[in-house]
Amino acid sequence: MTPPSLQVLFTPAESAVLNRRDLSDTVCIVFDILRATSTMMTALANGAREIVPVSEIEEALAVRRSRPEVILAGERNGLRIGADQTGGVEFDLGNSPREFSVENVSGKTIIMTTTNGTRALRACTAARTTLIGSFLGLRAIANWITAAPPRNLLLVCAGTLDQAAYEDALAAGGLCELICPDDAGGTVSDSAQIARQLYRAAQEDLFQAAKYGRNARRLLANPELRDDVAICLRRDVFGFLAGLSKDGAVRRLS
Ligand code: MLT
Repeated sequence: MTPPSLQVLFTPAESAVLNRRDLSDTVCIVFDILRATSTMMTALANGAREIVPVSEIEEALAVRRSRPEVILAGERNGLRIGADQTGGVEFDLGNSPREFSVENVSGKTIIMTTTNGTRALRACTAARTTLIGSFLGLRAIANWITAAPPRNLLLVCAGTLDQAAYEDALAAGGLCELICPDDAGGTVSDSAQIARQLYRAAQEDLFQAAKYGRNARRLLANPELRDDVAICLRRDVFGFLAGLSKDGAVRRLS
């Protein structure tokens, strides 16, 4: 059954004003396919205790000062945050899912700041529930939604810099396709229709489609990061749900 209100936010400008909305009866699913939300899912699959998304580098550094045991992770311009951006502290990890191995993250608390993904998550903190969206675990999210459709469902695409990101819209469309494959009597919103039609056109080969997106082109041009694109576009390799807890940390929910 289609949730009564299903909307897709495509751009960072839309999620930036979520704090003006009452989200107390809304479920948000945040997608930053390349790469933040895919990386968070990978970290949790590999045993990370929790990931605390923060918007700014300085916030991450402040947590590290009070909790020296935490791992710092994140990127700017796609690259791991270095000492030149922090006044001397090298971040432990960047934002590549391949870095978040069992050896690196098992049992750890990770403080993470990325250009778009962690900001989009922070924008959803007032939601009733906020889940981590990815192709890696899309089916699990769809199953959870169809088991008990929320009254308001908001698919939040994190975007790339200040623009929409094709791969995020594809994932939102993929979820729309799973939870409302039919038009459901014309009740599907225009934004959900747009995302779903994009996904339908691209679903046979997500890599071929997504590689034309801005962030995919940036990652594919970097020999050290190019493999991340295909890794983040794999479907349903994880069967668990992850979400934002009320204390602001992302944890496994199942
Ligand atoms: C972001 O949050 O903007 C992204 O995950 C960027 C990236 O590292 O590819």
